[in-house]
Amino acid sequence: MASERTLSIIKPDATERNITGLIVARLEGAGLRVIAQKRVWWKKKEAKKFYDIHEGQPYFKDLVAFMTSGPIVLQVLEGEDAIAKNRAVMGATNPVDAEPGTIRKEFAVNLQRNSVHGSDGPETAKREIGLCFKKSEIVG
Ligand code: CDP
Ligand code: MG
Repeated sequence: MASERTLSIIKPDATERNITGLIVARLEGAGLRVIAQKRVWWKKKEAKKFYDIHEGQPYFKDLVAFMTSGPIVLQVLEGEDAIAKNRAVMGATNPVDAEPGTIRKEFAVNLQRNSVHGSDGPETAKREIGLCFKKSEIVG
């Protein structure tokens, strides 16, 4: 498997609890490199666009409200098999189902406030990285 890039977000429940460093340490510990990183506070428009495939889902409105409720950390991660590696270290969407030792098992509050986002495939990663970063902001 060649080197890959994926989009990672540290969500507002984690920035609020001052655990961004702990989460980055987990990602780096899994063999991923942070090659772009910025702390931002999304407007509704940005959150809606990022999560537009979830539009119409019963949780969509609350998800947008949550993702705009505080600062987030946007990151591009790079490494061998980075998309799957990031999803593995994140753990299942619902922390109740997440494997021991994963970020979500350890840090997530609940299904919505689950501390991290990770792209779910190569096409999604490309789209999400393009939405969040200019080429000049990605410095491998
Ligand atoms: O983040 P992940 O790819 O694991 O899950 P998703 O199914 O793509 O859902 C995106 C995000 O929406 C989740 O990470 C949760 O924050 C939220 N969500 C929710 O609040 N309630 C659900 N029933 C499903 C997802
Ligand atoms: Mg997803």
